[in-house]
This record gives sequence, structure tokens and C-alpha cells, in this order.
Amino acid sequence: MKRIAVFASGSGSNFEAIAQAARDGKLDAEVALCVCDRPKAYVRERAKKFNVPVLQLNPKDFTFNKNLVESFVADDLKKHGVDLICLAGYMRIIGPSLLEPFRDRIVNIHPSLLPAFKGAHAIRDAFEYGVKVYGVTIHYVNEDLDGGRIIAQEAIPYDGDDLDDLEARIHAVEHRLYPATISRLLKDGPSA
Ligand code: GRF
Repeated sequence: MKRIAVFASGSGSNFEAIAQAARDGKLDAEVALCVCDRPKAYVRERAKKFNVPVLQLNPKDFTFNKNLVESFVADDLKKHGVDLICLAGYMRIIGPSLLEPFRDRIVNIHPSLLPAFKGAHAIRDAFEYGVKVYGVTIHYVNEDLDGGRIIAQEAIPYDGDDLDDLEARIHAVEHRLYPATISRLLKDGPSA
């Protein structure tokens, strides 16, 4: 069975959707590891619930030597036999020490129709811009922020809802699309 690692910095609702899909047999993979870079992130509780080990990183170490931290993470992922890294609300740019050994094996989910609204506040930015079609993108990770090759996208029409309702609708799409896309990727490989 393929093994995946999920990287998260916050709530981890996408982590949970992936772990639940694996538990339900909808995603033929084991969530081998959760990598978390924030000591109080709620994703840690979710990982506990699913018995997924957490590799906890200390934000201070990144300021000191990001390369060293990422080399350490890469080694740990290899030890766990990780085939695919899934970023899910991981708020750091992946550097070369992790990108090189896992090239074409790191994917990310972003809550907009890329290349529109890159960055950390995509939903709010799109809302303030007044767009009429929102969306979710899953893409490979490369050196360009939110710029790697697109794997899957789903459009979400605006229906007059407020920002909170809109966010909830976007997250609901994420929770369905991400596990399904990971499943397809693991079966069909990078050409999927
Ligand atoms: C999601 O909207 C994801 O698209 C973005 O960060 C958010 C993470 O949410 N990259 P959660 O931590 O999975 O609940």
C-alpha cells in the first residue's frame, strides 16, 4: 500500500478528510505521518484521533537553518517509506532540500482557481475582488509559489452567500476533491 505524509500548519480539516477517506477504503493509502510546524495547531488533535504519528517541527529552527530542518524531514519521510507528500494548509514555502528528493511527489491544495489569487488569503482576496466563480486547485509543488503543474480543479459559482458560508462551501469541495485526486494520482502516477 502507498504511504503518504500530510503537512499542515493549522486546523487540519483537509488532513482529516484524507485520513477519513483512507480509513473508509475510499483512498487506497496509509497516512504514515503528519508533519506540523506549529506547536498549537489543531491538526495534532486530529492526527491523534486517527493514530497518525506527528513529526513536530519548531518554527525557531526554520529561522536558524531551514535547509537543515528540511533535510531532517526528508530523511524521516524516507524512513517512513513515504511515496507522496500532500500539503494541506502548510504555511511554508518548500525549499530545495525537500523539493529535490521528492520532486514530482509533492502536491498542494489551494482554495482558488489558479493562477488567480495565489497566496495565503485566496478566498478573502477573491471575495473582495468580487469574482463570480470561485474554486479549488490541486497542483504539483515546485519553486514557484502556487505555480506548479495543475492536476485537478473544480469551479464553485458564487450564489450571493457571505464570506463564512462561501468558505464553508469551498472547504466542502476541498474535502471531497483532495482525497479523490490523491487516490487517482497514486493509481495512475504523475500523468494523471
Ligand atoms: C485550505 O483552504 C487549503 O486549501 C489551504 O489552506 C486551508 C487549510 O485548511 N491551502 P485546513 O487546515 O485543512 O482546515
